[in-house]
Amino acid sequence: MNKLNDTDFGTPERVSDTQITLEIDGMTVTVPAGTSVMRASTIAGVNVPKLCATDSLEAFGSCRVCLVEIEGRKGYPASCTTPVENGMKVKTQTSKLADIRRGMMELYISDHPLDCLTCPTNGNCELQDVAGIVGLREVRYGYKGKNHLELKKDESNPYFTYDASKCIVCNRCVRACEETQGTFALTIDGRGFDSRVAAGQNDSFMESDCVSCGACVQACPTATLTEKTVIMMGQAEHSAITTCAYCGVGCSFKAEMKGNEVVRMVPYKDGKANHGHSCVKGRFAWGYATHKDRMLKPMIRKKITDPWQEVSWEEAIGYAASEFRRIQAKYGKDSIGGITSSRCTNEETYLVQKLVRAAFGNNNVDTCARVCHSPTGYGLKQTLGESAGTQTFDSVMHADVIMVIGANPVAAHPVFASQMKRRLRQGAKLIVVDPRTTEMVKGAHYEADYHLKLKPGTNVAVISAMAHVIVTEGLVKEDFVKERCDMQSFSEWTAFVSRPENSPEAMEAVTGIPADTLRAAARMYATGGNAAIYYGLGVTEHAQGSTMVMGIANLAMATGNVGREGVGVNPLRGQNNVQGSCDMGSFPHELPGYRHISDSTARAEFEARWNVTLNPEPGLRIPNMFDAALDGSFMGLYCQGEDIVQSDPDTQHVASALSAMECIVVQDIFLNETAKYAHVFLPGSSFLEKDGTFTNAERRISRVTKVMPAKAGYSDWEVTQLLANALGYPMQYKHPSEIMDEIAALTPTFHGVSFKKIEQLGSVQWPCNENAPEGTPIMHIDQFVRGKGRFIITQYVPTDEKVTKRFPLILTTGRILSQYNVGAQTRRTENVRWHSADRLEIHPHDAAERGIRQDDWVGIESRSGQTVLRATITENVQPGVVYTTFHFPESGANVITTDNSDWATNCPEYKVTAVQVMPVTQHSEWQREYERFNKQQLELAKVD
Ligand code: SF4
Ligand code: SF4
Ligand code: SF4
Ligand code: FES
Repeated sequence: MNKLNDTDFGTPERVSDTQITLEIDGMTVTVPAGTSVMRASTIAGVNVPKLCATDSLEAFGSCRVCLVEIEGRKGYPASCTTPVENGMKVKTQTSKLADIRRGMMELYISDHPLDCLTCPTNGNCELQDVAGIVGLREVRYGYKGKNHLELKKDESNPYFTYDASKCIVCNRCVRACEETQGTFALTIDGRGFDSRVAAGQNDSFMESDCVSCGACVQACPTATLTEKTVIMMGQAEHSAITTCAYCGVGCSFKAEMKGNEVVRMVPYKDGKANHGHSCVKGRFAWGYATHKDRMLKPMIRKKITDPWQEVSWEEAIGYAASEFRRIQAKYGKDSIGGITSSRCTNEETYLVQKLVRAAFGNNNVDTCARVCHSPTGYGLKQTLGESAGTQTFDSVMHADVIMVIGANPVAAHPVFASQMKRRLRQGAKLIVVDPRTTEMVKGAHYEADYHLKLKPGTNVAVISAMAHVIVTEGLVKEDFVKERCDMQSFSEWTAFVSRPENSPEAMEAVTGIPADTLRAAARMYATGGNAAIYYGLGVTEHAQGSTMVMGIANLAMATGNVGREGVGVNPLRGQNNVQGSCDMGSFPHELPGYRHISDSTARAEFEARWNVTLNPEPGLRIPNMFDAALDGSFMGLYCQGEDIVQSDPDTQHVASALSAMECIVVQDIFLNETAKYAHVFLPGSSFLEKDGTFTNAERRISRVTKVMPAKAGYSDWEVTQLLANALGYPMQYKHPSEIMDEIAALTPTFHGVSFKKIEQLGSVQWPCNENAPEGTPIMHIDQFVRGKGRFIITQYVPTDEKVTKRFPLILTTGRILSQYNVGAQTRRTENVRWHSADRLEIHPHDAAERGIRQDDWVGIESRSGQTVLRATITENVQPGVVYTTFHFPESGANVITTDNSDWATNCPEYKVTAVQVMPVTQHSEWQREYERFNKQQLELAKVD
């Protein structure tokens, strides 16, 4: 266990109204009932030696080095497994105990290689520490025990090794895999001196069910399970707390450093979103930050067929500014715009939208949330009054019924999934609404009570049918609704959902879900106790994405499942800072804090502070920017940290729009797909190279800490500032904390936020202001943010994207654990060992009908385009549905997706595309053109 972590109390914290007072080595200590003697001792400042205990795991009681004497009790009980009792008198240090502990350690050491000086965890090994603490001076059994040096190391995992010769069989890894991660990949195999840890059925770690979360490595007290970076680099010498730059869980980490180099990332025990746990991405997949593909020099070119020229920062910024002004002079003020990034910090995102509104003089700013959770913003604002999730992640531990809709947290939000699985193992019920059989449906020691395997595109029909059951069977929480909701909207809604056409029976043909299953699931949600809904892009990325979000909110309000622990409506945000980028005013119609640009009071506050006049008209959304580019009225774009060519739908349309523009400025750490259409390239900085904050899916604002200098010379916020100044709009921030101070001053929900506050509290959930100085974990407690909760009618409208004879299958898309979004980061790490290419999942019936065999190349064609992937034949998808991920640019998943989008927000309908699939022998025409263009662009940038 790593020494740089805070105190290890040996056993987990207990919460109880009953307090117990006892005496330990003459000191009085009072602790909650259920606390172990070991933990109470640590609280009293007395450290009892331990090997098999650690405070992230339940006590196991196997190593016997933590024995104590308790007055009036026979023998020597293990302090880790003995709960405190009132009046107990404990002695932790007696000569008898010292003898026993030394004896135990002699046994351990007689069976352990004595190579401390060359051991990778020398100086950070609990076995070594305990040997020192107990005063081990000799080993009477000799050192020639069965030291197992002949055992081969398992080095199959790219990130850690398993050296069985050093294993003391403390079981911590096995328990970490079970309790912390919930994967159950490890067991203890063999007996006595021969017992060792085994992954799977004695497979290598890579062949087993292990998902490389690293919880076992963190829990191991010896060098048995060790990070390969530690083996290579030795122990770290300093550390800093920061936040993961991957998904919306927002795990907190200790970046353990040697000079400016990361030795390892250790999930931070006090991190409120992750409590010391992480997934393979955050813990291990950070090598991209120093990858050779990093672009570290600013570059410019006149045309995208010209070679890139490396220039100074000054020249690149000057060129970008002069081009933007030239374009505005020629095509008008509104002919340029910017795209903010959900991977950048709040401060950076805020600056980009400020640059657009204040320096460009228009509201043409948008963000990638357009293509993921914009319907969440719209739908929750309409119904509840605030466009963010209602809970903390910890709230799931109070849920009795968990309904997961259109999300696969096991792959996309893994640390939260581990917590959810823990709750499921404790007995909470599970309803999964998903067209695929994902890992969420069934896993180690849990299984969904109901899996509503709907046809893609029929979410709204499902939610209305569930509402029908709840209303017509009298399951509405009348008191809650009467007190908290708008009754007019409620009665209109009940009248609507009660109609026979919304019944599960009537909807069965549409949704494909048997009516009695849907009825049973609806009853379980309404009557099973605290019911919480978690949803993802399978809800939002539809033509009726916003309608579905409102349908979810309706259901939660009608059943009284909002405003306390264990319930709520919880969007699982995809990227690390997608919540923050929305909060920071990245949408064309909203200033920071979701205030409409047409609101003259809000505008006046920003105008006074920014010293400009703001345009009251909303600007262009991303798809409108593309259309305007093709019309010849939108000619310049500043794109920070987003890869719209890969991530936005209908790639060929996006590429044509970008090709039509006269100046595209891309700021990124790699020459991404969008940069291949750019005229100015500004090197970006990774999360390790800047200060700032990220906001996770719980509205939790956490610090991002600069642990190494910006590799290209500037952090991203500094580059935006340089560009603003070059455009003649002064920005003079010396540190991101000053940007946050400005955000706080201008945003009512952030009035109380500052770097100082975040550092004091560890993190803070907005709203954080005069009314909630320490933030707001649970929202809508006494009343909804909008006053009365508003029900909205959710009429199911089938999507225009229909299956036809020509396109008889529905393609839906999703993510995989080891890769992240467009893959720009994870593809440049060893994570490719788990997923090196996107594949098409197809049901055996559909495959047989087409003569497709496992691993065959298959062509996938929609009305937008065609691409080719290898086939995976699986019953995880239902007949009529095919599925792929979108992590590799050459896959061209978005060549297939169409320009259909959500009616309210333009969020693309990624989850429903009518396609045909057929066996093929070569790449598609688009792929061949991509390969040519890609090669040409890499040559123009002189990148291998
Ligand atoms: S890395 Fe995680 S999943 Fe793999 S064995 Fe260890 S704890 Fe289990
Ligand atoms: S591998 Fe480490 S944690 Fe697991 S039993 Fe061996 S010593 Fe304990
Ligand atoms: S990717 Fe998500 S779950 Fe994994 S460590 Fe990062 S924030 Fe945590
Ligand atoms: S620490 Fe208590 S028995 Fe191992």
